Amino acid sequence: MNNNKVALVTGGNRGIGLAIVKGLSEHGFNVVLGCRDINTSEALAKSIGANVVAVELDLSSYDTRQRAISNITKRFPKIDVLINNAGVLEDTPFTELSSEALMSSMQTNAFAAFELTQYFANQMVSNGYGRIVNISSGWGAFSDGLTGPAAYSISKATLNAMTKVAANSYNGDIKINAMCPGWVRTDMGGMSATRSPEEGAETAIWLAMLGSDAPTGQFFRDKKQIDW
Ligand SMILES: NC(=O)c1ccc[n+]([C@@H]2O[C@H](COP(=O)([O-])OP(=O)(O)OC[C@H]3O[C@@H](n4cnc5c(N)ncnc54)[C@H](OP(=O)(O)O)[C@@H]3O)[C@@H](O)[C@H]2O)c1
Repeated sequence: MNNNKVALVTGGNRGIGLAIVKGLSEHGFNVVLGCRDINTSEALAKSIGANVVAVELDLSSYDTRQRAISNITKRFPKIDVLINNAGVLEDTPFTELSSEALMSSMQTNAFAAFELTQYFANQMVSNGYGRIVNISSGWGAFSDGLTGPAAYSISKATLNAMTKVAANSYNGDIKINAMCPGWVRTDMGGMSATRSPEEGAETAIWLAMLGSDAPTGQFFRDKKQIDW
């Protein structure tokens, strides 16, 4: 059990994020459930357990992110685990993709993860401990040919690059890794997907609890390292 540890999960109100929140709560973490709609998520957090609290965390712009980081830090001065889970899937083909639409995907899928990773990893260094898990996708892997929708693949490849550079930037007991959850039955994945949200969350929860001798700066699926 990790009863003294605090985990922040972005996009924790539904889909894979919600399954991660529930899994971490069951493992004894105090979980901060990041969401955009605080009114519905407060009741949701309460229904999961006494160790889950909802906080407003809109990742759409620099201003909303910085405001949220400041509010979260006031309430929870020590975050041990950060799960950058929130994401959007923009499916406009590359030939018609506007710069604005690409930027919007980059904001949530990449820049938000960068700002949160930088802020909380700096704090984790002072605390001597931290685990950061970036929920990426095989569609963001060069090794898989970047075959997903254009804005999604570009933003997830950026998230992967950020993961590697961030991991290279911190020494000590700070582990920063990325993972692909597989094809998961959520609003994003659709109902034909092959995995439940709980199955999609499994590797992220495992990465959140890595030991001190575990790797950092790697990409995982099904608890096994995969190529970037
Ligand atoms: N499902 C799959 O098959 C699959 C496969 C590979 C990777 N992934 C990745 O897994 C992660 C979770 O996906 P999912 O399938 O659970 O998706 P989902 O069901 O569509 O949920 C997306 C979550 O992200 C939040 N979100 C989106 N934009 C946000 C923003 N600007 N600010 C704050 N929160 C925002 C949503 O909040 P609201 O409720 O407020 O919209 C929601 O909580 C994503 O990063 C996705 O790319 C999913």
